[in-house]
Amino acid sequence: MRTKIVAGNWKMNKNLEETEALLSELSAKLPNTHAEVIVAPTYVNLALAQRNLQASSIKVAAQNMHFAENGAYTGEISADMLLNIHVDTVILGHSERRAYFGEDDELLAKKVNTALDKDMTIIFCFGEELEERKSGNHFSVVESQLKNALFHLDASAWKNIVLAYEPVWAIGTGETASPEQAQEMHAFIRKTISEAYNTEVADEVSILYGGSVKPGNAADIFGKPDVDGGLIGGASLKADDFIAIIKAI
Ligand code: PGA
Repeated sequence: MRTKIVAGNWKMNKNLEETEALLSELSAKLPNTHAEVIVAPTYVNLALAQRNLQASSIKVAAQNMHFAENGAYTGEISADMLLNIHVDTVILGHSERRAYFGEDDELLAKKVNTALDKDMTIIFCFGEELEERKSGNHFSVVESQLKNALFHLDASAWKNIVLAYEPVWAIGTGETASPEQAQEMHAFIRKTISEAYNTEVADEVSILYGGSVKPGNAADIFGKPDVDGGLIGGASLKADDFIAIIKAI
């Protein structure tokens, strides 16, 4: 169902004590909101986060997972391991996974299939690089990222998918897509899904924007009709900033 979502991707930040401190500050300051609030701490602190947030409405997500059931994949984490600690949401396809760890559409399609087999919710990230936008290819890049990793799915699978459009040039750079640029792309994404499936699937999917969302720009971006919330990196590491962004929705 299309819901408003604010998700914090903590990336490789926060040790155990810092994780505990940020979680308790967030729980204490969480405003009343219709939006779903999600945090994605690092793997080693996921179980702790899940435990510490049991009494809170904040949900916990993982930042990544492997597609295999189990086995000889040193350094990797399986879907069952996440479910075992009651984490049923996973971020897949983040541009840093694509850029630094060689995750391509084909691999991501496998991860998507595994997560859906396990009835997990996926926050699927995608977005164009600066050169691709400059050369006017951003729409076709986004369309092929969606097509290659997601369009093999049945329409019914889309209830477990949240999309996060994250233009790579706006991630961690301080440069944000303008609300108009975000709206333009989100509308295009919805149209593309509607053509591949139908308007119901397109209307029901939540599409988050990610890339330098801050307390100062969140309300304008979230105010656009096809923007259903945000995936927040840097600003999710400070409780007051993240809370201000939640309030903006
Ligand atoms: P940022 O990161 O908010 O620090 O730009 C967003 C993301 O990578 O999801």
